[in-house]
Amino acid sequence: MKWAVVTGSSSGLGLAMTAHLLDQGWNVAGGSRSGTDIEHENFYDLELDVTDEVAVEEFYKTLRELTPKVHLFIQNAGICEMSPASKSDAEFFGKHLATNTLGAFLMLKGLKPFLVDGETHIISILSAAAKFGYPDMTAYNASKFGQRGLLESLQREWKNHRLRFTPLYPGAIDTPLWGGLQADFSRERMLPVEDFLYVFDFVLNAPPNIRLADLTFLHRDGFLE
Ligand SMILES: NC(=O)c1ccc[n+]([C@@H]2O[C@H](COP(=O)([O-])OP(=O)(O)OC[C@H]3O[C@@H](n4cnc5c(N)ncnc54)[C@H](OP(=O)(O)O)[C@@H]3O)[C@@H](O)[C@H]2O)c1
Repeated sequence: MKWAVVTGSSSGLGLAMTAHLLDQGWNVAGGSRSGTDIEHENFYDLELDVTDEVAVEEFYKTLRELTPKVHLFIQNAGICEMSPASKSDAEFFGKHLATNTLGAFLMLKGLKPFLVDGETHIISILSAAAKFGYPDMTAYNASKFGQRGLLESLQREWKNHRLRFTPLYPGAIDTPLWGGLQADFSRERMLPVEDFLYVFDFVLNAPPNIRLADLTFLHRDGFLE
């Protein structure tokens, strides 16, 4: 039976991808700080704070008791808050780097012993913000550009393992992430989670020789302004 790990499985895209994978017969180990209500015989809800090196080690220790191999790794856990640069302090900036960039690094580093050469697929939920700058999002933009850089570096460093790396660059998707933002964006200009899952399923079930290297997808009316 194939094993998937989903970080940030308690909400939004992570929760939706977890349910989708379980429907498709995967064993899923989900990681988050708050946990989920999912009850499924193939779901393992593990405690995880990606910013904490010791917590990441504990996560992988528990995972090792479940499986020696990870066939699919979904790098999804992330935070996004908006603030003009002049009002953003080091703590605000730092927590984006700690979660979205350092957290991604710690999780991928810990994944190494679980890799299956020629098989493991690493899907990273980056963002259009890993390519384009948005106003009032210096911290989020920097953290996502950083996450993209570490992924591209690792892809080359781990070349001999012949893994599949799929970075995704979605625009706005209607998840709880937007609820906490001090901005009044129209939900109608965001993709529904079902549309995200359409792309995710396409990526997941693409023939194994294909590497989808640059998937940017937005609402058809373009970027949120
Ligand atoms: N929604 C969008 O418009 C959009 C667009 C492009 C990219 N993305 C990216 O998609 C990913 C998921 O976003 P979402 O929209 O689904 O947001 P969400 O609903 O707020 O979910 C975020 C998830 O990340 C987890 N998380 C946050 N900090 C964590 C930590 N320190 N340790 C472990 N887990 C942590 C949260 O779990 P706990 O709080 O329980 O720990 C939660 O499960 C993010 O990386 C985001 O940048 C989102």
